Amino acid sequence: MGYRYIGSKDKLSEIIISEILKIDKNAKHIIDLMAGTGLFSLALRENGFIVSALDVMTYSYHHLNFHLFMNCYPNFEGISHIKGIKKSNSLSNYELILNYLNELEPIKGYFYNEFSPEGKASNTTKARKYFTPENAAKIDSIRNEIKFLKGKNIITDKEHSLLIHDLIMATNDVANIAGTYGHYLSKFVKRSEVPVFLKPSRFSTSGSIEGHNVYLGYAEELSPSLSGDICYIDPPYIKRQYAANYHILETIAREDFPEAIGESGLRPWRDQYSNFCSKLKIRESFTKIIEGVNCKHILISYSEDGLIPINELTAFLSKFGKVSRKDIVYKRFKSNDSKKESKLHEYLIHVAKN
Ligand SMILES: C[S@@+](CC[C@H](N)C(=O)[O-])C[C@H]1O[C@@H](n2cnc3c(N)ncnc32)[C@H](O)[C@@H]1O
Repeated sequence: MGYRYIGSKDKLSEIIISEILKIDKNAKHIIDLMAGTGLFSLALRENGFIVSALDVMTYSYHHLNFHLFMNCYPNFEGISHIKGIKKSNSLSNYELILNYLNELEPIKGYFYNEFSPEGKASNTTKARKYFTPENAAKIDSIRNEIKFLKGKNIITDKEHSLLIHDLIMATNDVANIAGTYGHYLSKFVKRSEVPVFLKPSRFSTSGSIEGHNVYLGYAEELSPSLSGDICYIDPPYIKRQYAANYHILETIAREDFPEAIGESGLRPWRDQYSNFCSKLKIRESFTKIIEGVNCKHILISYSEDGLIPINELTAFLSKFGKVSRKDIVYKRFKSNDSKKESKLHEYLIHVAKN
């Protein structure tokens, strides 16, 4: 399944980068303020830019560490301390550690209990069906071991981010969901019955891995400490909070055991609430970011489906400087159960700050 991320700009990166170059053909340093999957940041790196990227979600932080700072697998030198791994001449340490994690004994732990039908889910009478019992127990053993290896300093921070990234990608492949983790499907789909398996990531060799910065936190708070040639903002445009819709990925990334609440088993997510999902708060947050960031040019992605109608948004943004807009016709993000038409307008709004 890969990553079905609401608002992902994976397929639009070429158009956005050409817009960036139209604004400033000498632009070098781009701020990617709501970086999500990190795939647009990677496209920037591959096109020769230096990137400062951030997001409020922890999974995004790990994806960004992988996409911006790696062009080949790390050494994993510490694995000589892991009993059960024997050095090999034919396999890299990265392949060895993935094999080791793939072969761990399943554990009937947090994921098994909260997110599989055989578990004892808290705060609901209905067992949740995000994963088959076998896959949930496997995810438990893999995530416990990654956490243990990091705690013992057997893996470095970057190696840790790579393994978390790999586990999230493997989890996405077998999750019994229709696009997001807002709820599980009532019957297991074929994909979810395949055993969960960590696959080696593909490392991009394009662009430099030097000079980038990755941050975890709110754009409103961090933007005053950021400077660049162009600040790209890709905010949520609908009411659905990412922290709620991707709660399971966040739990993998944070390596914790939060209380699972309600039928969907959401983690308490208010600490990652986004103002961009509230009609009332969007303007306040845009103001903080645009006034705060040390950048002449702001480029904003927004959608026809957005909480604020596009004309209202451009009128509001014009108080910060000269505004221009490019319209793109784009394929709509569709849940499997959605019957909506599949085209929508996506906008790129350029604000040249006063
Ligand atoms: C439309 S998605 C970005 C998608 C991204 N460009 C990609 O291609 O994957 C919006 C992102 O904004 C993040 N976000 C929402 N509010 C935020 C805030 N106030 N500060 C930082 N990140 C925020 C969400 O976590 C989400 O990842």
